Amino acid sequence: MKLLVTGGAGFIGSNFIRYWLKKHPDDSIINLDVLTYAGNLESLKDIEKNPNYRFIKADVCDVDIMNDLVSQVDLIVHFAAESHVDRSIQSSQDFIRTNVEGTRVLLDAAKNSGGIRFHHISTDEVFGSLGLKDRAFNENTPYDPRNPYSASKAASDHLVRSYFYTHKLPITISNCSNNYGHYQFPEKLIPLFVTNLLEDKKVPVYGDGMNIRDWIHVDDHNQGVEEIIRKGRVGETYLLGGDNELTNLELTKIILDLMDKDEKMIDYIKDRPGHDLRYATDFSRTRKELGWQPRVKFKDGLKETIDWYKNNQDWWQRVKSGEYQEYYKKQYS
Ligand code: NAD
Ligand code: TYD
Repeated sequence: MKLLVTGGAGFIGSNFIRYWLKKHPDDSIINLDVLTYAGNLESLKDIEKNPNYRFIKADVCDVDIMNDLVSQVDLIVHFAAESHVDRSIQSSQDFIRTNVEGTRVLLDAAKNSGGIRFHHISTDEVFGSLGLKDRAFNENTPYDPRNPYSASKAASDHLVRSYFYTHKLPITISNCSNNYGHYQFPEKLIPLFVTNLLEDKKVPVYGDGMNIRDWIHVDDHNQGVEEIIRKGRVGETYLLGGDNELTNLELTKIILDLMDKDEKMIDYIKDRPGHDLRYATDFSRTRKELGWQPRVKFKDGLKETIDWYKNNQDWWQRVKSGEYQEYYKKQYS
């Protein structure tokens, strides 16, 4: 099979490419990524020489390139997005462009090529914010996004589904909870806190730290995506999650504990505007239909992730200093 992976230089996409090529060594992958600040080819050094892997630097909004690339593949796995809520609060422009218009361009390319199988990677944040006693999100939860990032992802989900009903495009969608693991950009909570502590800096907890997220290891997410691609019903949405809800403060204390640091390292700072209280997914239908469930125990996965950041200081220091962006120019100019 030939795959087009968009956003494959980002956190989840790069781990997906690594996962897929290991599991399906005869498949070939085109990694299409425009390399925003979040794209980092140093995350793919171990596979860049694999003959079944090809990187193309391009924008998902580029109609001609998308039409050309999509016509060469059997399957599209669409990760490319602006993904950080705090940046979407500063400006939503790139979020609408990439997440909505980019998805539209890719859908049209898939349609124009005769109906290429399309898997869309989305988030549980499209469902909005849960109260402490509410039942977790499921496939029938109405969409209720509350920040520009989740609104742009919700718009893209609606668009993807509309191409199934209107154009019979063979799509599936996955809505997953918060990922963690190796190669995550140190602006998201876990890698930011871990790398700050490695540098002996404090960790910024928003508000009172009582917001709740469900955490899943990136490999579990990608295995779920594989099951949906293999066995999922076309036109369907599948929820994925880690069954592992924690307040941000609980999570912070676990990280501090695993890193032998004191609670004095917590810096309580001004809350994020419109900060969603709680996300949680009920993925029982995915488990029943596809036999998928998360495998990595949180404490093990978190420990392994912290060890990875300890042992790969070069990777994240080059991200924090901006040097990682030079790598592309050297390798691919
Ligand atoms: P990321 O920010 O680490 O990576 C995004 C990648 O997309 C980057 O490599 C970037 O260069 C690329 N990109 C951005 N704009 C592009 C454009 N116009 N054209 C081509 N490439 C472009 O994001 P991530 O955390 O790996 O998330 C990947 C996907 O998974 C996103 O769609 C996100 O909404 C979804 N998701 C993320 C999480 C999470 O916890 N991180 C959870 C659920 C779903
Ligand atoms: P984040 O990793 O940005 O993911 P998301 O907002 O998509 O869930 O944030 C996870 C949680 O951690 C969220 O409730 C916001 C909070 N947070 C902090 O308290 N401090 C931080 O520095 C960051 C980045 C996030």
